[in-house]
Amino acid sequence: MTDFAATKAMFDLPNGTIYLDGNSLGPLPRAAAERVSGMMTHEWGQMLITGWNKAGWMGLPTGLGDRIGRLIGAEPGTIVTGDTLSIKVYQAVASALELCPDRKVVLSDSGNFPSDLYMVDGLLRSLGSEYELRVVAPEDVAENITKDVAVLMLTEVDYRSGRIHDMKALTEQAHANGTITVWDLAHSAGAIPVELSSCKADFAVGCSYKYLNGGPGAPAFIYVAPRHADRVRPALSGWLGHEAPFTFDLDYRPGQGIERMRVGTPPIIQMTALSAAMDIWDMANIMDVRAKSIELTELFISGVEATCPDLKLASPRDPAQRGSQVSFRFADGYAAMQALIARGVIGDFRAPDIMRFGFTPLYIDEQDVNGAVDILADIMTNRLWDAPEYKVRQRVT
Ligand SMILES: Cc1ncc(COP(=O)(O)O)c(C=O)c1O
Repeated sequence: MTDFAATKAMFDLPNGTIYLDGNSLGPLPRAAAERVSGMMTHEWGQMLITGWNKAGWMGLPTGLGDRIGRLIGAEPGTIVTGDTLSIKVYQAVASALELCPDRKVVLSDSGNFPSDLYMVDGLLRSLGSEYELRVVAPEDVAENITKDVAVLMLTEVDYRSGRIHDMKALTEQAHANGTITVWDLAHSAGAIPVELSSCKADFAVGCSYKYLNGGPGAPAFIYVAPRHADRVRPALSGWLGHEAPFTFDLDYRPGQGIERMRVGTPPIIQMTALSAAMDIWDMANIMDVRAKSIELTELFISGVEATCPDLKLASPRDPAQRGSQVSFRFADGYAAMQALIARGVIGDFRAPDIMRFGFTPLYIDEQDVNGAVDILADIMTNRLWDAPEYKVRQRVT
């Protein structure tokens, strides 16, 4: 059994704060600051450029990939970290399209994170006007997987509502139609158990700054199924994805397997922070995390519904259908969230009216949930959100 008291003690959470936004940015693992400082002093400082070999920096992107892979059911050697998630979406969809050269349609849904749609729109524009990004309602995805769809690109857990798509069923249906799948696991990795290998997913991408706690700007990851890894052509053919980067050939030859999905120089400082975060994940069993997350989200929903009648649940009521976050609709949700943050309960707001709360058992427990409900009830019952200072929109919501 995962010892959640032990994992909680490994995070540096500010006193008096109940942090319900680990679905957006995970908190600081206590060991990360020291690890990064040690890396800077002893490796960068002393080894200088020899650190790429001596300190093993060049192996970090795949080493971290394997550690993340354990949480999402990926085979060893199938994930590489680096770049941002938007970049990895581009890479995955571009390679997936090349596996289906006779088809020109990418199917996605209107619940997808906008950056995924923007990246594909940009990619398709550069490929030609015969390509189409088809966006349907999340509940209509299955019936729209038609024989002309080259790539099905979905975010498994909806960033606003937390609704989970059925990865296994949709992937099976896609394959039956000759369609390649690209799954965005931004709100899945570290939140719910994922079985990439047994679902036969083709490509998957995700970020490491949310539930994995790698820190702001932590690297993204990309998974390519072993059956595709040696034949996909990388659209972002950077030198570190080359078969032999240090021969400096003028012609690009893709590297072995997942190595070809590397692009350029990896962010070693950020990867060092992520490796400290993954040490905590090594102490956790994702099935325990899921069970505890369901307990916490159920407790939160029942507490809020009992005390805040103006808030309407925007997440699926069935815990099996939602990820590790709970969202409520409230017309003045932005102001209410600002009032909550002022009282030390940190969640976030997604336009037009979604108050979003993430539940992360590695460092959130029942006491935190009850404390958050009490403060939210006070703010709603006494209309404490109705103050001008809470209505000023900040750059990041
Ligand atoms: C589902 C999803 N996809 C893509 C992104 C974009 O990620 P990045 O800013 O790392 O490119 C996010 C960011 O939160 C996201 O939630």
